[in-house]
Amino acid sequence: MSTTKSSNITFHGANVTQAEREGILGQKGAVVWLTGLSASGKSTIARRAEQLLLARGVTVYVLDGDNVRFGLNKDLGFSPADRTENIRRIGEVAKLFAEACTITLTAFISPYRADRDAARAIMPAGTFVECLVEASVEVCEGRDPKGLYKKARAGQIPEFTGISAPYEAPAAPELVLRTADLTVDQAAEALIAHLIEKGFIAA
Ligand code: ADX
Repeated sequence: MSTTKSSNITFHGANVTQAEREGILGQKGAVVWLTGLSASGKSTIARRAEQLLLARGVTVYVLDGDNVRFGLNKDLGFSPADRTENIRRIGEVAKLFAEACTITLTAFISPYRADRDAARAIMPAGTFVECLVEASVEVCEGRDPKGLYKKARAGQIPEFTGISAPYEAPAAPELVLRTADLTVDQAAEALIAHLIEKGFIAA
């Protein structure tokens, strides 16, 4: 899927530069790519950070695993190839949001390092923030809010990440949030502090 099928297409740029757009809107676009096991806390942290950022007047949007699979990616399952395509599409969508200067928080397991690296590779340097939402399989299984680990243990969900499918943790993420040790608010605030520190949003 990495090649372009269409021919006779021309890329058409905007009338304003990215710097002009950022100046007018008062923020820079970024993709905060949350990765981690199911029930590690990705969506919960992203939603709380979204709420807190909106309260600060920041334009922010969450792309969330389960939700995107109801629409854009409804044709995809959980095979390695489908997960790769899932992440490829989300990477492209996130890139468009970030180009529009939106702080874009993505909450997908994204278990394969190569897929996350590919999402990083299409972004302007420095605008992809890989955030490991770290929690062990034991911790996630203890939470099991959707009862999926129980089903996976019972053999009812094939290729379940952490049980019967791999999770490749990032080697050098920009941010690590250990959710066994942090409250949701602490994790969300750490994410926001990173965005301020890197100059994407004002303090
Ligand atoms: S990813 O691996 O392709 O990044 P994604 O984040 O979109 O996964 O979807 C994960 C969500 O789908 C989980 O939180 C869970 O609710 C659900 N799910 C259903 N089947 C599986 C499976 N086999 N492995 C992991 N998650 C699954």
